[in-house]
Amino acid sequence: ARGDHIESLLRQMTLEEKVGQLTQAAGGRSKNLNSKLTAEELDRVRAGRVGSYLHVAGAEPLRELQRVAVEESRLKIPLLFAMDVVHGYRTIFPVPLAITASWDPEQWETTARISAREAASSGLHWTFAPMVDITRDPRWGRVVEGSGEDPYLGSIMAAAQVRGYQGEDLAAADTVMAATKHFGAYGAPTGGRDYGSADISERSLHETYLPPFHAAMTAGTGSYMTAFNDIAGRPTTANADLVNGTLRSKWGFDGMIVSDWNAIAELMNHGIATTRSEAGALAISAGVDMDMMSLVYADDLPAAVASNPVLLQHLDNAVRNVLKAKQKLGLFDDPFIYHDTAKEAAMLRAQDHIDAARRVAVRSIVMLKNDNAILPLAGTKKRIAVIGSLATDRQSQLGSWRARGDKAEVISLLDGIKAGAGKGAVVNHAAGIDADNPDALKGAVALANDSDIVILVTGEDYDLSGEARSRSDISLPRDQQRLADAILAVDKPVIVALAGGRPLAVPGLAEKADAILMTWFLGNQAGPALADVIFGKAAPGGKLPISFPRATGQVPYSYGEYPSGRPADPDPAKDTNRYSDLPITPLYPFGHGLSYGDIELSNLELGSPTMDGSTPIEISATLTNNGKLAGDETVQLYLRDRHSTIAQPQKILRGFRRLSLKPQEKKTVSFTPTSDQLAFFGPDGKWRSEAGMFDVMVGSSAETIVLTGAFELTETVESKVPAS
Ligand code: IFM
Repeated sequence: ARGDHIESLLRQMTLEEKVGQLTQAAGGRSKNLNSKLTAEELDRVRAGRVGSYLHVAGAEPLRELQRVAVEESRLKIPLLFAMDVVHGYRTIFPVPLAITASWDPEQWETTARISAREAASSGLHWTFAPMVDITRDPRWGRVVEGSGEDPYLGSIMAAAQVRGYQGEDLAAADTVMAATKHFGAYGAPTGGRDYGSADISERSLHETYLPPFHAAMTAGTGSYMTAFNDIAGRPTTANADLVNGTLRSKWGFDGMIVSDWNAIAELMNHGIATTRSEAGALAISAGVDMDMMSLVYADDLPAAVASNPVLLQHLDNAVRNVLKAKQKLGLFDDPFIYHDTAKEAAMLRAQDHIDAARRVAVRSIVMLKNDNAILPLAGTKKRIAVIGSLATDRQSQLGSWRARGDKAEVISLLDGIKAGAGKGAVVNHAAGIDADNPDALKGAVALANDSDIVILVTGEDYDLSGEARSRSDISLPRDQQRLADAILAVDKPVIVALAGGRPLAVPGLAEKADAILMTWFLGNQAGPALADVIFGKAAPGGKLPISFPRATGQVPYSYGEYPSGRPADPDPAKDTNRYSDLPITPLYPFGHGLSYGDIELSNLELGSPTMDGSTPIEISATLTNNGKLAGDETVQLYLRDRHSTIAQPQKILRGFRRLSLKPQEKKTVSFTPTSDQLAFFGPDGKWRSEAGMFDVMVGSSAETIVLTGAFELTETVESKVPAS
């Protein structure tokens, strides 16, 4: 009956109403989300010339907008309300890269669940998340929004987010539809410059960049957003082979696809369309259903349809996809279920949401270094100097895409440390950098000299990462470097809390600091979370989801590259695959992160020396905490296909598990990779795992392999899906 309703609506719709359904508008209120709607906007809704609004929010104003749509428009089709709810709506969690650093999909599921509850209570149906773009170039500012460099880790996190946002039932009043973005290879722009061309091979597209998109589909994502950029000259917004071909026909996706902001009109800038109506024709033919903010579909597609009636079929399919999405969200049954103001008031920043934000933040912190077990700080009857302007910068803790987060609701790192330090401690702060005070640096050095221990908060502020925030140099910003140099020259123990939305090349800190905690941007509960780790209330246990290079010149970089015919050898007399001025390894590898306790990995066991195409192999190992403190370890399983017809990476992550161990506790962890996970994308476009030997590597980072073994795959197996 529901399908009938959609077909009957389609039959009744004029061409103008059809393109209206495919139009997403911003409503011009992004600065003041709750302001009254303009008369012009209401007229547009009445006339059926808009199908969706983005960057709007609030149960009450959106109820009114929805009322106009379902009571005063001819066909009474409800509107779809969308926003970038990426790492929280009002309760703000750590930035996405940080949450992935937990190596714990549960943290993502919780974050997305709470974000969905808050956003849906505020009238929203649809979030532009998860952002699943893999990147190996941290100059790219949007690295902060994704899950880092690895497709397997990225796939697990993508699926967890989709589950969290969408729950079991999209029509429930506390779930929102996910828009997995930015379909294609947005994370591989040339030179790391946002919006740039991704000139990548078919193989890396399929093996590296697409798997998380596929994982999101398996988890049921209701929609996708296409990327702004092109792959080897083909902008995704107009790439019928990729969108209609790979995503729809090959993978079987039957939901809705939205363009990125103004991307349809920008097809003219790409040089593949000369007019707006040509751009519209290309996008609709590629399979892009909804036009975000270019108004090309609304204004210029009708002309294209008039001269090429074949387009009408594409247009009708697109309208069907949009109406089906509205139906899945339950909007035809009750267009107002998301507009309950009492519920909204109770839901935003509910106490359990704030508590969860603190837990997720704790689990996102990565301890990069901890010489002589200086952390956790015990017996805190000490004079603690907290140095750095980032210690009090609450805005930065909200990171990029803050939805309705409010910096007034952030607990700063300094306030967290003050509250967590205990009664006997004295905590003083100096900014060290202050445009209005030329003596700020001197003051900070004096304070450091006068203290027992220094917590130096340095790194990037939030505005150095995010959309259109690419950097050519990913070392510390110059003033932060000056501050760090001055403080590290003082003869006091220095713990660095490193802020940032990307990997940072910080060899100086790595050499001289006593401890380094990568604190990213941690959200509302940044301060308490950092204090929990510093003072030992919780053990750190995050791991890097992306390698930290030694210098910007080392990027793009990822662990486990294809082997060279002349493997890197530090001997300068030999001609090998290395830099003459840098070691080949990164500063901190993918998967690196320390904890408290003293956790040892031992006892690798393989269920069998061989596996066939239909039965997974069991691989297990034991963890023992020999230390006096509780700690976490994330065991990582890497595999390598020893010989095959196409060269294979030197290692690929194929399993991981984060575990907490009390002192003296022992736990066993096991993985069961299937033959699908051994597959690679062949030159014929087929996924295949080839018979032969596979090396097993189990360790605590991509560079810290502790246990090794091998097994044989006894047959060559074709698989239908991407490896992860
Ligand atoms: O969702 C975003 C996208 O990631 C970048 N361009 C704008 C969209 C809507 O805000």
